Amino acid sequence: MKLINIETNMAEFDGLKNQTEFMTYFRNENMMNPQKYFIETWGCQMNEHDSENLSGMFDLMGFIRTDLKENADVVLYNTCAVREKAEMKVFGNLGHLKNLKGRKPDLKIIVSGCMPEEDVTIEKFKKEYKFIDLVIGTHSYQKFPQLLKEAYLNDRTKYDINNKEDIIIEHLPANRDYNVKAFVNIMHGCNNFCTYCIVPYTRGRERSRKPEDIINEINELVNNGVKEVTLLGQNVNSYGRTEKFDVDFADLLELVNNIEGLERIRFMTSHPKDMTFKLIDYVNKLDKVCEFMHIPVQAGSNNLLRRMNRNYTVESYMEKIEYAKKNVKGLTLSTDIIVGFPGETDEDVDSLIDLFNYVKYDNVFTFIYSKRKGTPANDYEDQIDNHIKKERFNKILEVSNNIAKENSLQYMGKTVEVLVEGPSKNTEGVLTGKTRGFKTVNFEGEKDNIGKLVNVEITVCNSFSLFGKIIK
Ligand code: 5AD
Ligand code: SF4
Repeated sequence: MKLINIETNMAEFDGLKNQTEFMTYFRNENMMNPQKYFIETWGCQMNEHDSENLSGMFDLMGFIRTDLKENADVVLYNTCAVREKAEMKVFGNLGHLKNLKGRKPDLKIIVSGCMPEEDVTIEKFKKEYKFIDLVIGTHSYQKFPQLLKEAYLNDRTKYDINNKEDIIIEHLPANRDYNVKAFVNIMHGCNNFCTYCIVPYTRGRERSRKPEDIINEINELVNNGVKEVTLLGQNVNSYGRTEKFDVDFADLLELVNNIEGLERIRFMTSHPKDMTFKLIDYVNKLDKVCEFMHIPVQAGSNNLLRRMNRNYTVESYMEKIEYAKKNVKGLTLSTDIIVGFPGETDEDVDSLIDLFNYVKYDNVFTFIYSKRKGTPANDYEDQIDNHIKKERFNKILEVSNNIAKENSLQYMGKTVEVLVEGPSKNTEGVLTGKTRGFKTVNFEGEKDNIGKLVNVEITVCNSFSLFGKIIK
């Protein structure tokens, strides 16, 4: 067990300043025979990062992480509410945990993330999932030790949900998964209310972190060996708007670009309506900002975009894409789309395919529309049949995969710069990393290359990954 002086550490993590008493309680409890915790995360990078914070708090309280659920004394599911399918998986996994708890009555079960922010889920938990010990929403992580203690000392489920305070908590501990790259939240919440989306209801209103807090965090990461950061927000292009900062997102990129020792900067997600030409110019100008942008288009016709409340048109989207293609050398693009949104016609799908053929995305994340209670589109009457959704999904997948393959083939014989992230999960002796354009590259090499930028000559081009040999 890592020996940590809790008092000194608490000064460093002042986001937890009211929590010392509860953290000390668990540290003492875990002193002789530490309990093991298991975390499983669904959904976006925000959730991934929240899990890193929750894990950091567990560590500080003397718990030990395990990758085997069956060995755990406490299991935490950090959940996503964006689509029904992910929710069904969580409910299924909770069913299994009920059995495990039958055999191990002291097992503690925690559910966090976006599902606890939905009233329908809470009703279901209260009726059918009484064996859960703690249900904690996205706004309450800074009270996690206290809530955990209450859950440990009570038989009934402890709920901390619907806490509508839209605050930003700085300085929580984080147990990060990567050594080479890290995610950094620059803002929280969303104000856009796309008619299909649950996020504004589960994550609250948009609020941005102060530039100095972001820079301090990245400086610290770089001091610990991180080479690449991805700046995260639901809509990074409106960074600082609520707070009226005199630094916009492009300016923030410039500040981060000045950090010595950092090699690469990425960001996501860019809402097309708020993307500025200045930002595009900065992506080209700033040497550490990678020539890669994820710009969700969601649909290929103005009628659907209007019904989705996206606040841009195909024409205004394309104007920005054309400007970016012209002005950012070596640009690669990816996007999100929704298939089977209410009212979608075959013509809408065809215009989307036209758009794909023009933009030529490297990667298209295609989601089948999922009804979300409480969102406007849930009540739209012209819902699409499942089998039509599936057919259109397959058609779109085929087109986007062909384009990805075509894009990939252009790398054949070329030498690319790769930031080496670690050993490949699939093959012994093979390392994996990414190009600046976010293509995965695998190659044979020694582990001392991890964390370094190396040149790799490409010899095999698959649709979503490349293989090559390292050039000395
Ligand atoms: N159904 C299907 N996909 C959705 N997304 C968001 N809400 C829904 C929904 N109700 C998709 C969008 C978004 C991505 C993260 O998830 O494409 O960009
Ligand atoms: Fe959801 Fe739209 Fe906000 Fe993205 S911008 S999180 S899709 S409401």
